[in-house]
Amino acid sequence: MHPRYHYAPAANWLSDPNGLVWQDGEWHMFYQYNPFGEEWGHMSWGHAVSPDLATWQELPVALAEEDQTMIFSGSAVIDHANSAGFGADAMVAIYTGARTDRLHQFQCLAASTDHGRTFAKFAGNPVLDRKMADFRDPSVFWHEPTRRWIMVVVLSDENRALLYSSPDLKSWSEMSEIPRDGAPGHLWECPFLVELPIEGSQETRWLFKVDVLSGAPGSGALYRVGTFDGVRFMPETGWQVADHGDEFYAAIGWTEPRDRMDRPTWIGWMGNHAVQKHLPPQGWRGAMSLPRRLSLRPDSGGFRLVQTVEPSCRTLFANAETITADEGCQPLASAALLGLPGNSEWSLALSDDAGRRLACTLAQGTLTVERTDPVTPQLDKRCAMRLTEDAPVEIWLDTGSIEVIAGRGADCLTLQHRLAGEAWALRGKGEVAVRYLAARA
Ligand code: FRU
Repeated sequence: MHPRYHYAPAANWLSDPNGLVWQDGEWHMFYQYNPFGEEWGHMSWGHAVSPDLATWQELPVALAEEDQTMIFSGSAVIDHANSAGFGADAMVAIYTGARTDRLHQFQCLAASTDHGRTFAKFAGNPVLDRKMADFRDPSVFWHEPTRRWIMVVVLSDENRALLYSSPDLKSWSEMSEIPRDGAPGHLWECPFLVELPIEGSQETRWLFKVDVLSGAPGSGALYRVGTFDGVRFMPETGWQVADHGDEFYAAIGWTEPRDRMDRPTWIGWMGNHAVQKHLPPQGWRGAMSLPRRLSLRPDSGGFRLVQTVEPSCRTLFANAETITADEGCQPLASAALLGLPGNSEWSLALSDDAGRRLACTLAQGTLTVERTDPVTPQLDKRCAMRLTEDAPVEIWLDTGSIEVIAGRGADCLTLQHRLAGEAWALRGKGEVAVRYLAARA
């Protein structure tokens, strides 16, 4: 069953968000997409647009595999000053071309002058080529202080991220390397570098995030916080985990426009390459997380990333009802926003007729989510996070997923699930404030 309020395409495979950009009132989301099936392959850029980051409309494929070259992950910018010569305010996609006949990845451009409805691939592609098999996922942004474009891109297999700069998106010069000391795991993907506000101050710092395919804690999305002078990223913290679930991967952001607190928004793929193939076929595979506003909170180790669900998503939900899970088994509709205390102990279990279970427990300050699936045991998983404070725990449940946001955004845990049916049983201990999706006009 399709998610009720998370984005998923009508059919086929979806993975990484790509080319997140805003133009003239529309939030664009491109994404890794296979137009031909539910498995990874024929990678192209799917496309959806939203007026508010809460409701999405799917559009035709924006960039398709062609000439034995798949369209891998990347970003998009609005070239206001026409630096690249594709036209003032052209939407320019910067993506990785990945050959299907040999191991070769390189960076390419495509431009649109009709609000992303059609793109023309640049005749001079590739614009950046190191003749390597694993060189991908360019994330590009405009750096106003040095008035040039900056790209962060990975040499995946070497666990390295490089910074390049360009005056025109077409010619790129290597500047520096992101320090990688102490990073756990192997295979770097989907880097993201962004300036974030620090809560309660006028200061900012930069966040560097990279997804580690295997051997890293949590979902593999690791970050460090530091400064960026236009040339070099200088970390002030060690590596931390952006999401303690198993399935929040390849997140990137819309860096503009920002909200009143100067926060940009990011979104991640609620999946990963190891688990997706075990999900039972249902005509489509893969959904996005909710968009989350980003900021930094000072703590003893330096800074922590804070992720707050985009406020417009809350307006999808009606007023809260309170249910007492102690009264035995309660029915729960498949799309719900649950509110629980962060300063007491409780445990909730959702289950369906096939015996699938999703159990959330808060005990001794540690929140655990356990997924058990007797139909597909490869999906069995236990994820835990130590809460950084007593703040309320929000659980965003949808057909297919659970996102737990606690510690006022500092503690996040995202997992898919395959509970079946329209209603599940809720058993447990504790009072739960429940909101259901509001009827839409
Ligand atoms: C991450 C990733 C990227 C690559 C894309 C291909 O999920 O492996 O590194 O560009 O997916 O689909």
